[in-house]
Amino acid sequence: MSPDLAASLRRHSLGWLAAANAVGVLLAALLLWPDLNGALAPLTYGRWVPLHLDWQLYGWCALPLVGVLLGYFMRPDAAGLTAGRAALGCWSLGLAFGGASWLAGWSSGKIFLEWAGPARVGWSLALLCLWLLLCAQAWPRRREFPLWAHLFLAALFAVPFVLWWASDPRVYPAVDPDTGGATGASLLGSTLGLLAVFGLLPWLLRLPVRAPAAAIFRRQRLYWLYFAFSFALDLALRHGNVSHHDHGHIIGLGSLIAWVPLVWRYTRSFAWPPAAPAWLGAAFAWWLLLAVTGFGTYLPAIADRLKFTNGLVAHAHLAMAGLVTSLHVAILLCLDGRWRPARWSGWLWQAGCAVQVGLLLWLGWQEGADPSVLYVRGGLADLCYAGRLAAGLAMLAASIAWCRQAWRTE
Ligand code: HEM
Repeated sequence: MSPDLAASLRRHSLGWLAAANAVGVLLAALLLWPDLNGALAPLTYGRWVPLHLDWQLYGWCALPLVGVLLGYFMRPDAAGLTAGRAALGCWSLGLAFGGASWLAGWSSGKIFLEWAGPARVGWSLALLCLWLLLCAQAWPRRREFPLWAHLFLAALFAVPFVLWWASDPRVYPAVDPDTGGATGASLLGSTLGLLAVFGLLPWLLRLPVRAPAAAIFRRQRLYWLYFAFSFALDLALRHGNVSHHDHGHIIGLGSLIAWVPLVWRYTRSFAWPPAAPAWLGAAFAWWLLLAVTGFGTYLPAIADRLKFTNGLVAHAHLAMAGLVTSLHVAILLCLDGRWRPARWSGWLWQAGCAVQVGLLLWLGWQEGADPSVLYVRGGLADLCYAGRLAAGLAMLAASIAWCRQAWRTE
């Protein structure tokens, strides 16, 4: 990827992270002082939630991966730079328009798929623009790309249409009536999708291999064999009207823990740029915690207490603010060597995230036993919400520091 495109990508990605974090801090403040909603009306809590969730998901959690695609398929010259910037511009415009429309009250009501009205059209078009630009850039050099890259790019054509379709509230309801919500039947399948992305990541980043060819071959084979096994396991599981009481799904989720050492070995086969391993190490630490606590909290006795409490919010932040954020900083560090987050900001982020996750998990556990703790002003809930607000401010400060550095680094 050309250094200028890498710089643009960092600004878009980190800009969305900081913006979404600022909204997260606002939400945290509103949970602590609900009366503030009156002053903000009609832009109250519910209007802001999609901005926090979707800007994190489609902004911060997606754009560094879009950058990996741009780096792989775009030409590293002026034409590639123009096309890449156009793609990033369309993406951010679609996301900003989405934010304005959610604030205005247009929403499908489906979490992470709130796209409705003109924003739904705009977002699908933005995704289609990205795909067309990737194809236009890759086509003249099509013979340079291996077969898997052609298949991958062809498969991405479906994304704008699938998102358009899935955002329709008539396609399936916001809360699955069969499972009652987030302890659904697709957790193994959707996680395998992420593992497929991770398996391709070092190749898309064109990282040099550092293990002997035979060792790489063995580790790759193990990765994809275990992937095929997990995929077959997912197919064999009952889907639809199941829940966390189904033993098959408990075994399926347990099988995810084995991925952590497997992916660690796979990752170490590649030569990552000097600053990336520390962030990869953090990502693996969060992932290990996520896999173990995710499995534990899925077990019926624990899930029945934690389901729909702040424990779930803790899980989401552990996954996205801990694991995904650490991985995505590592990806940004791979694009070129000119941007490096200051050490203090890295530690501040990780500490803020750990405090936020710990407090929410603790609150969720208490709330599961006695939901009334949430309604006592000045009680345990307010104490935890105040700690989470402080942790959130620390994370916001770290992300602003990363963003400022990205704007300064030419
Ligand atoms: C400045 C740091 C952050 C703060 C203060 C913050 C705050 C919040 C708040 C207040 C909620 C709403 C919880 C509720 O309605 O009970 C929330 C939900 C959520 N946040 Fe954050 N957040 C932060 C960072 C992040 C990051 C970095 C990500 C992802 C990369 C993220 C992803 C999510 C997700 C997925 C949810 C939905 C959780 C659920 O409903 O289960 N947050 N956050």
